[in-house]
Amino acid sequence: MAGRRELFGGRTAAILALAGSAIGLGNIWRFPYMVGQTGGAAFIIIYLASCLLLSLPIFLAEAIIGHRAQAGTFGAMERLAPGTKWKWLGLLTVLSPLVILSYYSVVGGWSIDYLWRSLSAGFRLGADGSVSSDFGRFITSPWVPLLCHTLFLGGCAWIVSAGVKSGIEKFNKVTMPLLFVLIVIIMVYSLSLPGASAGVEYLVKPDFSRITPSAVAAAMGQSFFSLSLGVGTILTYSSYIHEKENILVTGVGTVGFDLLFALIAGFAIMPAVFAAGIEPGAGPGLIFETLPYIFAKMGASAPWLSGAVAVLFFVTIVCAAFTSAISMFEVGVAYLVEQRGVSRRRATLLVFAATWLLGALCSLSFGPLSGVRFFGRTLFEFCDFLTSNFLMTFGGLLFVLFVGWKMPRAAVRDEFTSGGTSRFNAAVFDAFWFLLRYVAPLAIVVIFLTNFFA
Ligand code: PHE
Repeated sequence: MAGRRELFGGRTAAILALAGSAIGLGNIWRFPYMVGQTGGAAFIIIYLASCLLLSLPIFLAEAIIGHRAQAGTFGAMERLAPGTKWKWLGLLTVLSPLVILSYYSVVGGWSIDYLWRSLSAGFRLGADGSVSSDFGRFITSPWVPLLCHTLFLGGCAWIVSAGVKSGIEKFNKVTMPLLFVLIVIIMVYSLSLPGASAGVEYLVKPDFSRITPSAVAAAMGQSFFSLSLGVGTILTYSSYIHEKENILVTGVGTVGFDLLFALIAGFAIMPAVFAAGIEPGAGPGLIFETLPYIFAKMGASAPWLSGAVAVLFFVTIVCAAFTSAISMFEVGVAYLVEQRGVSRRRATLLVFAATWLLGALCSLSFGPLSGVRFFGRTLFEFCDFLTSNFLMTFGGLLFVLFVGWKMPRAAVRDEFTSGGTSRFNAAVFDAFWFLLRYVAPLAIVVIFLTNFFA
């Protein structure tokens, strides 16, 4: 075991780091297109409910494990349940964030490329009305996406190798406030576009007929992804929070920021989509295909303004993707440093090498390797499907069962009440305990089955 562990500098630093993990492509890329595909305001209502009733308790459970153990995923299980099979949960949650990181880095790389384009040539409409970004051709061409993936992952390695305080904490402290400022500027611009009000209406007027079991499962799954649940990132970051800090306050703060950011991102993207007369259900290509089109269209009348917003937009995406990716990276590094006695630098290199390789194969699975299929899916699709539909929910279920049924109730209550000093939190604890022991496991099994049979 290495010497004294590095910790975050205080509550604000901890919330910014956790929010950095949570706020990412999930909020800016996935949330808006899921809202568009799954029914606008009705989806948002279920999403809010599932964040508060399901994901918040799970988030707190995962945070409690890390905070209590003051160790990364594998070490936490060894410490809180020594010599039991729970160590396999520790191992699973060392591996699953690295699988997510591999394909996440590919999308992070695309964002770097799009940032570069918005800084250089910008996006223009061709004579046939198509946009110069040409997403389809770009992702299938092998070299540039591969280079961008390397740059993105290299950036993560650089930040993580600098350490918990001078790398991760410092980066999040600068980037997170900036992200909020940027997304608000983009929202204001988007809301000012002619025709934006149809987008606002879409986001606030629910059509309840669109609430189906699979929409509910999708909303729950999205809240899992957005809050980085079930893969040990929240656990690992929470293990860097000082023992005296209260985990309820930190958790509620983080979930609140994540929700707020997703909503602002929705109001930044949907009004622009409607203003440009685009179909909101465009799917995963929404921000890479649709937004360049919007920037190009707006650029015809106000080239400077549209160019500046495009740059701000892709800066926001790149930064948000970085703050999330480093949290996944850190899980693997923490394991190697704490459990295997490897130096932080070497650990960073090892994690980089493994995720670069899997990520490179994921990137190539859009082009030269598109014929290689796993259960009918390309490698990229398979990694996404496996992690967001199964590994995250499975890991989340085991964390919840661990805290609700394995850890002593008094220890969990202690985390809530800061050792019995907060009376208010003691009242909240009973509701949490009920949600955690009964509601959360049941809901996760339902999502699991819906995903399995849908
Ligand atoms: N929550 C991140 C996002 O919204 C994704 C993520 C998943 C990060 C799992 C860490 C672990 O983009």
